Amino acid sequence: MRLLSSTCGEIRRRGLGSAIFHLLVVLAVSLPCLSCPDRCVCSSQTVKCQKQDLDSIPHSIPSNTKILFVTGNNISSISADSFPSPLEQLTDLYLSGNEIQSVDSEVFDNLPNLVRLDLSNNNIQEFSERAFPHSNSLQVLNLSRSFHNYSQTNDVLNNLLSGNLAHLTVLDLSDNDLLVPPDNMPASLPSLLTLNLQNASIVSLRNGTLTLPLLRDLHLQDNRLKNLPSAILSDFSLAPGLHIHLSGNPWRCDCFIEDMVAWLKNSTQVVDAQNLTCAYPGVLRRQALLHLQQTRLKCAGNMEGVLETSYVFLGLVLALIGVIFLLVLYLNRKGIKRWMYNIRDACRDHMEGYHYRYEINSDPRLANLSINSDV
Ligand SMILES: *[C@@H]1O[C@H](CO)[C@@H](O)[C@H](O)[C@H]1NC(C)=O
Ligand SMILES: *[C@@H]1O[C@H](CO)[C@@H](O)[C@H](O)[C@H]1NC(C)=O
Ligand SMILES: *[C@@H]1O[C@H](CO)[C@@H](O)[C@H](O)[C@H]1NC(C)=O
Ligand SMILES: *[C@@H]1O[C@H](CO)[C@@H](O)[C@H](O)[C@H]1NC(C)=O
Ligand SMILES: *[C@@H]1O[C@H](CO)[C@@H](O)[C@H](O)[C@H]1NC(C)=O
Ligand SMILES: *[C@@H]1O[C@H](CO)[C@@H](O)[C@H](O)[C@H]1NC(C)=O
Ligand SMILES: *[C@@H]1O[C@H](CO)[C@@H](O)[C@H](O)[C@H]1NC(C)=O
Repeated sequence: MRLLSSTCGEIRRRGLGSAIFHLLVVLAVSLPCLSCPDRCVCSSQTVKCQKQDLDSIPHSIPSNTKILFVTGNNISSISADSFPSPLEQLTDLYLSGNEIQSVDSEVFDNLPNLVRLDLSNNNIQEFSERAFPHSNSLQVLNLSRSFHNYSQTNDVLNNLLSGNLAHLTVLDLSDNDLLVPPDNMPASLPSLLTLNLQNASIVSLRNGTLTLPLLRDLHLQDNRLKNLPSAILSDFSLAPGLHIHLSGNPWRCDCFIEDMVAWLKNSTQVVDAQNLTCAYPGVLRRQALLHLQQTRLKCAGNMEGVLETSYVFLGLVLALIGVIFLLVLYLNRKGIKRWMYNIRDACRDHMEGYHYRYEINSDPRLANLSINSDV
């Protein structure tokens, strides 16, 4: 096939013979050159080889192909051998759903005008940093659901991004287990406009990893973000035209989220700000972040909380003491009654004695008598 396609190129270039000869040449040579590969469907400049159990990319792709689908097959790796002859006009290559594990060096060297590459739904474990030619025009790269082993993903992505992707405008990394976004994006992707990190198990954002000055659309919905620290918020404000999607994250509404809530209320960047809700603590679950009152944002460890709990505790202890006191009184009611009677009797005796003495003292005659009797 390689032989045929090169002969084909030569004859077309020569193509100045007689009209009949030219016609014969076209019939004899150009036909196989532009003929459709086995198990594929060709229409105008689009070739589709879908769900055919192919274990490699067919070699006889017509040289004028613009759009090529080899999807839903069983191709475990792609390498320089996958595209042995130049496909100068190819702009769109769809390789989704193939279980591709490795993307080797120089694989796309024969596709100099590739603009859109779809590698979604694969199982990529190796990606050569030399996969793309040094000067390439790749603009859209789809790696959605392409990585199954998260312990390898960041290495693979770092490799991939250190290739030359200066013209990339759209990167789709959705539906992968990334945990954190790759950290060399600002250096590698100066032209990036759209970054899709939806459902990528992202637990935190490190400042500096998303400082992409041209970025217009950032999809971060359906991840595991609990808060956005202020360093990230200031990274975002460096990209004034940015639209951010943040819904579907389990926001933790404690005192640390105050900065983010203030930013949300002021910023016009968050497209779905209305839809952000708290996941923790339980009392604030499903409360909209935009309608949170600052006084309800508490931290378990902060002073206010401690004071409040200590007041409650003190109150409980006092109440308990009161109850015990009443109980003791109740159990001793007979003793107390007896004791009260005793006291009353003692008082009465005492008062009577006092009264008697008073009467004696107040009567001058008796007073003399008593003085005399004392003597
Ligand atoms: C895919 O290819 C592998 C070998 O590369 C083979 O073991 C497997 O059976 C193939 N799967 C299908 C569905 O053909
Ligand atoms: C990437 O591929 C997935 C599924 O394979 C698709 O849903 C998504 O729209 C694609 N992304 C882009 C940017 O084309
Ligand atoms: C994931 O990658 C690590 C490191 O390369 C390897 O040890 C582990 O077996 C892989 N796990 C799976 C499920 O393939
Ligand atoms: C999220 O991504 C995982 C793979 O990482 C996938 O299994 C799951 O279906 C995705 N969820 C949605 C809602 O797309
Ligand atoms: C991240 O933020 C910290 C503190 O705000 C700062 O010291 C550090 O330099 C920042 N890192 C980057 C890469 O911007
Ligand atoms: C919003 O933020 C900008 C810049 O940080 C600030 O100038 C402006 O006063 C803020 N607006 C409100 C209503 O807080
Ligand atoms: C917010 O959520 C509602 C209901 O789930 C949905 O219809 C709406 O499109 C969402 N808005 C945005 C901006 O995502």
